[in-house]
Amino acid sequence: MSRLPVISTGITTTPSGKPPHQVGIPGWLSDRYGRQLRYLRLSVTDRCDLTCKYCMPEEGIPASPRSEFLSFEEIVRLVRAFRNLGVSTVRLTGGEPLVRKDIEHLVGMLRDQAGITDIAMTSNGSALAKKAKVLVENGLQRINVSLDSLDALRFQTMTRGGKLERVLHGLDAIQEAGVSETKINTVVVRDFNHNELANIVDWAWSRHITPRFIELMPLGEGARLGREAVFSVAEMKAHLCQHLELSSDSSHDIRRGPAYYLYSVTDPTKKVGFIGAVTDNFCAQCNRVRLTPKGEIRACLASPDGISLKELLRTGAQEQQISEYIASALFRKGEGHEFYTRGSDQHHQVDMSSLGG
Ligand code: GTP
Ligand code: 5AD
Ligand code: SF4
Repeated sequence: MSRLPVISTGITTTPSGKPPHQVGIPGWLSDRYGRQLRYLRLSVTDRCDLTCKYCMPEEGIPASPRSEFLSFEEIVRLVRAFRNLGVSTVRLTGGEPLVRKDIEHLVGMLRDQAGITDIAMTSNGSALAKKAKVLVENGLQRINVSLDSLDALRFQTMTRGGKLERVLHGLDAIQEAGVSETKINTVVVRDFNHNELANIVDWAWSRHITPRFIELMPLGEGARLGREAVFSVAEMKAHLCQHLELSSDSSHDIRRGPAYYLYSVTDPTKKVGFIGAVTDNFCAQCNRVRLTPKGEIRACLASPDGISLKELLRTGAQEQQISEYIASALFRKGEGHEFYTRGSDQHHQVDMSSLGG
């Protein structure tokens, strides 16, 4: 049998005496707080064709040799191990997932070889138009596209050169291709785009797209914009309510990410999402685990600590061994983030650009 790398979780048994991966619902991935982890955010590259001010440094990031990144075959082996532990949703992120060559093949492999039924992607949309049809044919069901402004110049400023037109074409193409759900993500930055919210909602609703507004997180480059740039969800709602009538009841789907939604009072089929990443700590309901392009699992977005699965994969471990290793590692998932709560404006050393949020 191949030799496995030494497991670094430090936890081999739980208070009940059972191995960590047997705590909670048998066979399911859960942590020591009892949270079931069923949603894998799979970052496939740290490259991006844009350098958004809150995400990537202007000069980009240093290139790594290709051999450091997991191959599609390796990714599929890992995803099968996650699926055996109850993970049912895989969201492809980056960097920008569409810059990874032949990404549509990975989508097909996740469906056909890893048995994933809920395949989603978060993209900047710039290169979406030409891949839209094949992505949907290969099994992509849901897409979230970043769109911080509908003003071409403002969009270009935030993305340091991005072309709004290309993103809009990408959105048209993916809807035409028949994707089941399209949402847009707007990171709201005070005095930059906060006056656009109502306009973005109108625009999105007229296209059967769900708009979502995200508080700026002090992660990586995002911290450089400063705490003053954070426009809170409470402020977003107050601003929107001057322009539209929204339901007082909200909904949150526990199988999905942290957004909660309010509905149009005049047309309840239309909703707008809010992600209070700073002011609304949703960590107690966290269902997510992240995998970096180089094969590290990150239990929490806010933590730079990772546990590498690459060596395990490359020394020929079997699926069952990989599943057990993952389960032990994730049992130790931290309680959550502490953005701005310890009296500091700390710069979280998280490589948001390669984790993809
Ligand atoms: P769905 O609900 O499945 O559509 O996915 P999502 O909203 O989680 O995915 P998306 O990639 O569009 O992320 C939207 C925003 O939520 C990004 O800014 C992410 O960084 C943020 N986000 C997603 N998951 C977490 C999380 O676990 N913790 C924190 N703090 N932010 C998260
Ligand atoms: N704060 C909030 N959201 C961010 N994103 C990237 N960086 C940040 C940040 N610092 C968003 C992107 C994308 C999603 C994956 O994460 O806009 O929509
Ligand atoms: Fe989950 Fe960490 Fe995000 Fe909190 S900050 S919701 S624990 S990933």
